Amino acid sequence: MQLLIVIVAYILGNFSPSYVIGRLSANIDIRNYGSGNAGTTNVMRTLGYKAAVFTLLLDCFKGVLAVYIAKRFGSENLAMVAGIVVVLGHNWPVLLKFKGGKGIATTIGVALSIHPVVASICIFVGIILLIIFKYVSLSSIVAITLLPIILFFQDLNYFIFGLVLCLMALYRHKENMQRLLNGTEKKFTEKLKVK
Ligand code: G3P
Repeated sequence: MQLLIVIVAYILGNFSPSYVIGRLSANIDIRNYGSGNAGTTNVMRTLGYKAAVFTLLLDCFKGVLAVYIAKRFGSENLAMVAGIVVVLGHNWPVLLKFKGGKGIATTIGVALSIHPVVASICIFVGIILLIIFKYVSLSSIVAITLLPIILFFQDLNYFIFGLVLCLMALYRHKENMQRLLNGTEKKFTEKLKVK
């Protein structure tokens, strides 16, 4: 049963709203545009804010769903594993030849379902940074780094959960970090519309 729940989480993660919306609305592979990422920010710059809102909500929702299923039929610890695995499935989806997203929206859904208070603090800090600096990647990197730091003061299992999510996100943001350092990262206000 536990293995089945983990497999379901990975399959849920494979469902890529940004890819589906790109195909349905403009017949494009979102991964060939902008940053090449299958995620909300790249949908925003490529297809506009309405498509981005749908992407964000659906990516969040699959995180919430994976955790809900694991809590319902398993335990809190299994929910944390399922939360990590749904993000893993989002970042490295077998259905999309392992080229997925960076996992932030799905992590938001997962973290809110596991630890709403800590997740809300991280999201709040991320939003403030986004308003000030206008880089989604920078906000994401700082917010996700904050997650294990705060969870460290809660409980070891929560801390490990937060740390794994954080390491996956930082790994997927390697190129963003390079661009932030050499000043070529795009602000979320800069658009590249194909539609
Ligand atoms: O969540 C992804 C975001 O932090 C960066 O996306 O498309 O600018 O690489 P992107």
